[in-house]
Amino acid sequence: MTDLPRLTVLGTGYLGVTHAVCMASLGFEVLGVDTDPRKVALLTSGEAPMAEPGLTDLLSEGLTSGRLGFTSSYERAAEFGDIHFVCVGTPQRRDGHGADLSQLEACVAELGPLLARPCVVAGKSTVPVGTAARLAARLAALAPAGEAAALCWNPEFLREGHAVADTLRPDRIVVGVGAGPAGERAEAVLRVVFSAMTAAGVPLFVTDLPTAELAKVAANAFLATKISFINAVAEVCELSGADVGVLAGILAADPRIGGAGLRPGLGFGGGCLPKDVRAFVDRAAELGAADAPALLGTVDAINLGRRTSMVNLACDVLGGSVAGKAVCVLGAAFKAGSDDVRDSPALDVAHILHGLGGQVTVYDPAAMRNAAATHPGLAYAPSALSAATGADVVLVLTDWPEFAALDPALLGEVTAARRIIDGRYVLDPAAWRAAGWLYRANGIPAPAPSDQLA
Ligand code: UDX
Repeated sequence: MTDLPRLTVLGTGYLGVTHAVCMASLGFEVLGVDTDPRKVALLTSGEAPMAEPGLTDLLSEGLTSGRLGFTSSYERAAEFGDIHFVCVGTPQRRDGHGADLSQLEACVAELGPLLARPCVVAGKSTVPVGTAARLAARLAALAPAGEAAALCWNPEFLREGHAVADTLRPDRIVVGVGAGPAGERAEAVLRVVFSAMTAAGVPLFVTDLPTAELAKVAANAFLATKISFINAVAEVCELSGADVGVLAGILAADPRIGGAGLRPGLGFGGGCLPKDVRAFVDRAAELGAADAPALLGTVDAINLGRRTSMVNLACDVLGGSVAGKAVCVLGAAFKAGSDDVRDSPALDVAHILHGLGGQVTVYDPAAMRNAAATHPGLAYAPSALSAATGADVVLVLTDWPEFAALDPALLGEVTAARRIIDGRYVLDPAAWRAAGWLYRANGIPAPAPSDQLA
């Protein structure tokens, strides 16, 4: 036993699992809670639900040390925890662009009546601004402990592929608290939880509840805006003959702009950026704001437009139609370094080309299992070379280093035609052209029409 607060983590998805194992690695006793007993069983057996560097090691270290455990029981959680981190999913609603808060509501409804002693409930899920204040009132009404069950908001900024590192060494920590003694107590407990990080110099911002909620959505909206900005500029580059890759490098050299989020290509996907942008638009409009919905609605539209442009380009290089053509799609994950296919631009394009009659074969170094589960209608091959065998066109749609390292001569020996589309600007156009390939990318002017039949 230690004097440290005991932690529960409610919801063992991407965020929750990472938070639970990282906090256990810092010496806290942590109980992960999930309503799905299969997830609990898998985690208890030491199996991480997703591929993240360092995650499996920390999971087994936590389990072996006895500091980390998992359960489906909210009763156990309420009894165990001094602080309850709420990490349940807030996906896009099926019937609109707003966030679906049903998991969050259910979590508070189940936990609240069990909170009989003073504790802190820290929301980490990404939520529309105003949610935390509403939940704080609900919790105070539900909990036998009343306002001694203090709600605060502590958004998470981790990137997939860097989840463990981002959790243990974040850029910043944000703690949004309510007014009065409950808020002060929540701040004090969270300062203990994050003391290793603040001691290492990580800034901790204490804010009110709405500022903390907005800190997350505004950060994601800004990153999305940068990506759509460079993609909008890519269109101008294509029309004017400029090189968008070189241009992005020049923009990035300005420290006021910076290079992060400035890689042009097929645009953003994943479990966060698309749904967070849409939820922000929805909530801002609900509040009566005009400019944020207009700006971010355009950001979303530009992003989705990249997928249409990619489909059009594939049809274009195939002489107008993809029907009956063999299409090799390299990439299924929404970005390199991840096996996540949620709202993956690569899979979306593969799916559309398949729907247009293309014989699409997909290869991804990490996301094959997840892709086959969500898109069983597509064909899959065990390597880039086998996916490309007999292909009329090869599309590189995820920025895996493995694809950047492909040998144009070797690939050209197995394809039916040497046509390649670089959806992520990872290839060296000169090398591919020198090996006799038609190299195309959105944002790069088309060669003379005769070349397209190469
Ligand atoms: C994002 C945020 O970065 C993170 O802070 C937040 O907590 C969750 O959402 P993540 O979804 O892991 O993290 O992905 P990120 O690395 O930001 O990339 C998002 C998407 O944008 C990917 O599809 C990626 O390929 C694309 N992207 C990213 C670009 O197209 N260009 C870029 O310059 C950067």
